[in-house]
Amino acid sequence: MSSLPTRLWGRLADSSIYFSFDRTGFERHQRAFRPDDLAVDLTGKRCLVTGANSGLGRAAAHALAHLGAEVWLLCRSEERGKVAEHDIREATGNPRVRLELLDLASRSSILAFADRLGETPVDVLVNNAGVLPDRRLETEDGWELTWATNVAGPFLLTSKLLPNLLGASGARVVNVSSGGMYSQQLDLRDIHWRNKSFDGVAAYAQTKRAEVILTELWAERFPDRDIVFNSMHPGWADTPGVSSSLPRFWRFTKNRLRNPRQGADTIIWLAACERIVGESGKFWFDRRPVSTHLLKRTRERSGDRQRLWDLCLEQAGLELPEIIGRREASGFPKLIEN
Ligand SMILES: NC(=O)c1ccc[n+]([C@@H]2O[C@H](COP(=O)([O-])OP(=O)(O)OC[C@H]3O[C@@H](n4cnc5c(N)ncnc54)[C@H](OP(=O)(O)O)[C@@H]3O)[C@@H](O)[C@H]2O)c1
Repeated sequence: MSSLPTRLWGRLADSSIYFSFDRTGFERHQRAFRPDDLAVDLTGKRCLVTGANSGLGRAAAHALAHLGAEVWLLCRSEERGKVAEHDIREATGNPRVRLELLDLASRSSILAFADRLGETPVDVLVNNAGVLPDRRLETEDGWELTWATNVAGPFLLTSKLLPNLLGASGARVVNVSSGGMYSQQLDLRDIHWRNKSFDGVAAYAQTKRAEVILTELWAERFPDRDIVFNSMHPGWADTPGVSSSLPRFWRFTKNRLRNPRQGADTIIWLAACERIVGESGKFWFDRRPVSTHLLKRTRERSGDRQRLWDLCLEQAGLELPEIIGRREASGFPKLIEN
């Protein structure tokens, strides 16, 4: 048990955000971690990680492979993906690490991947890939890139992989959000930024807010706990994504940033820890459930949560059966393509 001054300092530091999201925050929070939480053997588990060739996704894939899992690296670049595949195999001695090409910003790429996957059971899906572009870019589907990569793509992937996830026992979906989402209220009025000037940081935070809400909605729709959905934020970690998308922030904070393994810690924990079986629909930071709002003004407007769900389903071109979440005797809720 830590002393009163230490606890008071911890509370003060956490409320500052700066000394919570940074490396010192991780070092302080990890004192409460249970040492045996990650003393697990994931042999026989199949874990899929998007954006696994870089930063947090790579650190998570590495750790899951180290724990014995079969790890699929879902990457858009064959070249970068092959390097990660080779390096993780070499470093962990786990040959069950494989690259699969997948572009989260492309509907056809996600559908093709789901077809290739067939009926293979999936124990863990980590929706980690994310972008923060500094200008408005449109995907081949006509969607703004941040929305496509951070929201629509992961939603479609999760939907298409539901039968695979439900085909494993106790499947876990981990959605990687961001503390940046605390600054934004869900705003569905112009998600593709067609009628307003583009603000990359706001667009990013909006999508990260949407990811957290969708995690709660998925969990509500699957209360039987055969599958759990959780979201997390990593604090601030030194990754290629941060140094390239936020160069000024990176220059200012680089000596205080977490390393990628520290940033990925809660992803790995949510994917692997046995003690948390059944936890679903929560937002986690450094292995603790945390509030999804720090400000009153970011609370969702009435009806927006349902609208978000409906919009994502519509964009995915899918319908879930009315009894979504109820396991059918023969298998799973079937997805009906429109
Ligand atoms: N680092 C932090 O401090 C921090 C803080 C809050 C939240 N996050 C979140 O953590 C996640 C990982 O970020 P990171 O910091 O590790 O950044 P990163 O180093 O840039 O890694 C992002 C990964 O996503 C992949 N990716 C991007 N677009 C993709 C697409 N269309 N299809 C497939 N993969 C795609 C990238 O692939 P390429 O290599 O091909 O570009 C890369 O592998 C993101 O969701 C980010 O929002 C990070």
